[in-house]
Amino acid sequence: MTGLPAEARTREGGCLTTGDRALRGLTMFSRFVLALAAAGLISTAAAAGQSAAPKPPANEDCLTCHSDADAKRADGRTIAVDAKRFEGSTHGPMACVDCHADLATLVEFPHADTLAKVACAACHDDIGSQYHDSIHAWAKEKAGLNVAPACADCHGRHDIAKKTDPASRVARANIPSTCGRCHDGIKKKYDAGVHGAALAKGDPRAPVCADCHTAHSIKRADTEAWRLSVTAECGSCHIESQRTFRDTFHGQVTSLGFVRVAACADCHGAHDIYRRSDARSTVSPARLVTTCGRCHADANAGFVQYDPHADRVNKALNPTLYYAGKFMNLLLLGVFAFFGIHTALWLRRAIVARREAGR
Ligand code: HEC
Ligand code: HEC
Ligand code: HEC
Ligand code: HEC
Ligand code: HEC
Ligand code: HEC
Ligand code: HEC
Ligand code: HEC
Ligand code: HEC
Repeated sequence: MTGLPAEARTREGGCLTTGDRALRGLTMFSRFVLALAAAGLISTAAAAGQSAAPKPPANEDCLTCHSDADAKRADGRTIAVDAKRFEGSTHGPMACVDCHADLATLVEFPHADTLAKVACAACHDDIGSQYHDSIHAWAKEKAGLNVAPACADCHGRHDIAKKTDPASRVARANIPSTCGRCHDGIKKKYDAGVHGAALAKGDPRAPVCADCHTAHSIKRADTEAWRLSVTAECGSCHIESQRTFRDTFHGQVTSLGFVRVAACADCHGAHDIYRRSDARSTVSPARLVTTCGRCHADANAGFVQYDPHADRVNKALNPTLYYAGKFMNLLLLGVFAFFGIHTALWLRRAIVARREAGR
């Protein structure tokens, strides 16, 4: 049916003049007219010498009805498809029926009012299975929360672009807005915080939602496993802070898997992170007692002198800790050296004694 006569594709074609009006308020009658018109198109095409073997409908066939910007369903929702934008999208070279697969075998228009949902995972199967295990898929499919996103809610439908295209909904700079359509409160906090500010300035190092949460395997944020993994994520950018954190009590215990001690976000916040010099920061001198006090009920100005990032290899910053660290290392070395020599001497003595006894 690729070779539809030219007039069938114009607004003068029976289908399309009805398109403006009939598609908007389809009555049983106008549907009937539409059906006749479509059947007409098909028989014209067949008469024009098309091969008898049923070919899948071509994009132009679909667009005779769907490129009409005013085309609407009976209930008023649009069914218009912007052909130009579709052609410019990453799926532009594809056939409509590659996605709307249940129409691939259609022989005669009109098609059914309700079609199968598009299965993006049919081609993107890796991502499909990641998504399948995510909180979003769980919320949508198991908990029945229709507001939870499917692929098209984050990517769009007919205008999907590669993530490297700055216009893509999932280009780095646009990710917070895409997630923020639903998680608006969090987006506001993120925008105000130091990471959002860095992104707004165009800093390519700034973390976006998907860096900490992933895009397709998003998990509940209150599980211990996830909270441990996000600590590693913070550390992948804040290498020094993570190193010093690891060396301190909270880090030593956290790295053993006991997340309830304190991970980065417990002290710094998750989305509303600020510089220490900013009064809004949870680790600003004025708020530190409250922050530590969430877990250490008796925290006071003295207690918070303890530095969670104390650096025992930095002499200038933490001289006491530095020398204490050096002393502990020396002590350890001394102990090993002493007992090492001690054992060697004992061994020698034992061998000599055995030889003497054997003689
Ligand atoms: C003869 C005109 C016509 C042609 C040709 C046509 N459609 Fe439609 N299409 C409609 C109308 C009318 C509706 C709205 C049905 C309703 O909801 O009342 C619709 C609805 C749809 C829907 C929404 C279905 C749903 O479940 O909500 C999709 C998807 C669709 N068409 C895809 C296509 C594709 C792909 C082609 C080409 C293979 C195509 N259409 C060809 C008239 C047409
Ligand atoms: C990359 C896959 C993909 C391709 C290719 C595609 N569509 Fe769609 N289309 C979708 C998705 C996703 C929806 C949303 C409904 C759903 O999830 O099934 C949709 C919905 C529609 C609808 C219903 C109105 C709307 O916007 O929700 C129409 C009509 C439609 N498509 C027509 C077309 C036509 C015509 C073409 C070819 C020019 C086409 N589609 C190509 C994925 C695609
Ligand atoms: C909650 C929003 C969201 C949902 C739902 C979602 N994606 Fe994505 N997707 C993204 C983001 C954000 C990126 C960019 C990731 C990045 O920059 O690393 C992305 C990237 C991609 C890419 C580019 C390749 C890659 O991995 O970087 C493909 C392909 C893709 N998604 C397909 C899908 C499919 C198929 C589904 C449904 C099974 C889906 N997405 C569901 C947000 C989403
Ligand atoms: C019939 C197979 C097919 C279906 C169905 C399909 N895609 Fe694709 N998709 C492709 C191909 C092929 C590419 C281009 C890959 C490339 O150029 O690397 C692509 C590219 C993409 C990209 C860009 C990847 C990037 O590098 O950033 C995204 C995002 C994407 N698809 C999402 C979707 C979503 C969402 C759906 C469902 C609405 C969908 N796809 C349905 C085949 C498909
Ligand atoms: C730097 C890492 C990071 C970035 C960037 C980030 N998050 Fe989070 N997010 C976290 C952490 C850590 C938690 C757990 C917070 C807690 O329990 O105190 C969390 C929790 C959440 C939660 C569930 C708990 C709640 O507060 O409701 C949602 C939803 C969420 N984030 C969405 C987003 C969105 C949307 C963005 C982008 C605008 C984003 N996140 C950016 C680290 C991040
Ligand atoms: C279309 C709306 C929508 C979009 C877009 C969306 N989400 Fe969600 N998100 C939801 C819903 C609904 C839930 C389930 C709510 C619940 O039960 O906690 C959810 C849950 C979450 C959770 C788990 C919250 C928790 O309680 O632990 C995180 C984290 C999250 N989303 C992050 C993201 C990120 C990151 C993006 C963008 C890549 C995003 N979401 C895009 C609607 C959305
Ligand atoms: C993808 C990289 C990346 C990730 C992941 C990341 N950050 Fe950042 N962070 C940055 C950048 C970039 C800045 C802004 C630096 C600037 O503007 O000087 C910043 C700034 C900060 C600041 C302000 C102090 C400073 O050094 O500028 C704190 C505190 C902070 N991040 C904590 C965290 C925490 C906690 C996490 C995890 C929940 C995290 N970051 C995850 C890149 C990252
Ligand atoms: C027990 C609470 C606590 C934990 C856990 C913690 N920090 Fe801190 N962090 C602080 C305090 C207090 C300061 C300010 C004192 C200092 O700089 O040593 C700080 C300072 C910082 C700074 C410099 C802030 C500035 O504005 O100069 C960064 C960056 C940082 N932390 C990142 C992290 C990262 C990444 C993690 C996890 C690997 C982490 N922190 C874990 C309490 C904590
Ligand atoms: C999310 C909870 C949490 C936060 C927030 C937290 N800690 Fe802790 N911290 C713990 C736990 C749990 C332990 C181990 C149990 C214990 O010894 O009290 C611990 C142990 C300690 C220890 C060593 C043991 C002790 O009690 O003497 C110090 C010192 C300490 N924390 C200081 C701080 C400081 C300073 C802050 C604020 C910058 C802070 N902590 C924030 C949970 C937390």
